Amino acid sequence: RDKINIAIDGPAGAGKSTVARMVASKLQYIYVDTGAMYRALTWFMLKEGIPSENSENVLQKAQNMVIELKPHVNGQKVLLNGEDVTPYIRSSQVNNVVSKYAQIEGVRTKLVHLQRQMALEKGVVMDGRDIGTTVLPDAEVKIFMTASVKERALRRYNELSQTEDISLEQLEHDIAERDRLDQQREVSPLRRAEDAIFLDTTSMSIEEVVDAIVSYCVIHW
Ligand code: C5P
Repeated sequence: RDKINIAIDGPAGAGKSTVARMVASKLQYIYVDTGAMYRALTWFMLKEGIPSENSENVLQKAQNMVIELKPHVNGQKVLLNGEDVTPYIRSSQVNNVVSKYAQIEGVRTKLVHLQRQMALEKGVVMDGRDIGTTVLPDAEVKIFMTASVKERALRRYNELSQTEDISLEQLEHDIAERDRLDQQREVSPLRRAEDAIFLDTTSMSIEEVVDAIVSYCVIHW
């Protein structure tokens, strides 16, 4: 069977990365988490003290920055200039500003180029916001996954509340704000590709979503 590329897009907290990782593992494909790349860049800029408003400095700093994704037992490691930054990129600090850095056109050009290279040989499950529309418009299978803001906030809460002191209300607010920024930005905003399958996962389990996607791929390819 020939390998294909699978694009999974949707808003923050819809469960894309968990699902994409599991689909990749079932098909023995490579999982590419593009959000982790935007997060690593954001973490680096925060560390260097370069605000997103200063896009020229951001781009200058980004020029020689090397981002690599390495497969790992628990999903994937993100290396920035050789350093493993995986433990730092899911903090609220990064959550709150990543969409601002992701709006910068030059940042997107650089990361989209890297993402396309990763998918050249096919056999990739890539998740993000603009994979079906911009990064891999020729992907054989495209999924647009979402869930209500309440449900997505609840999922994040269960994930974060062990390590961070944060309220469900605050998370709901943050997610709605990130949705707004991701949908309204000028360069490749979050939207469903016309040929993407729409999956509302509000009342689906992870396994149900994974099975739905894998069966679709097996039947159609
Ligand atoms: O998927 P995740 O929540 O890790 O993505 C973090 C942020 O990175 C998103 O809110 C979005 O602003 C940005 N992003 C993007 N394009 C992608 C993936 C992520 O703009 N393909």
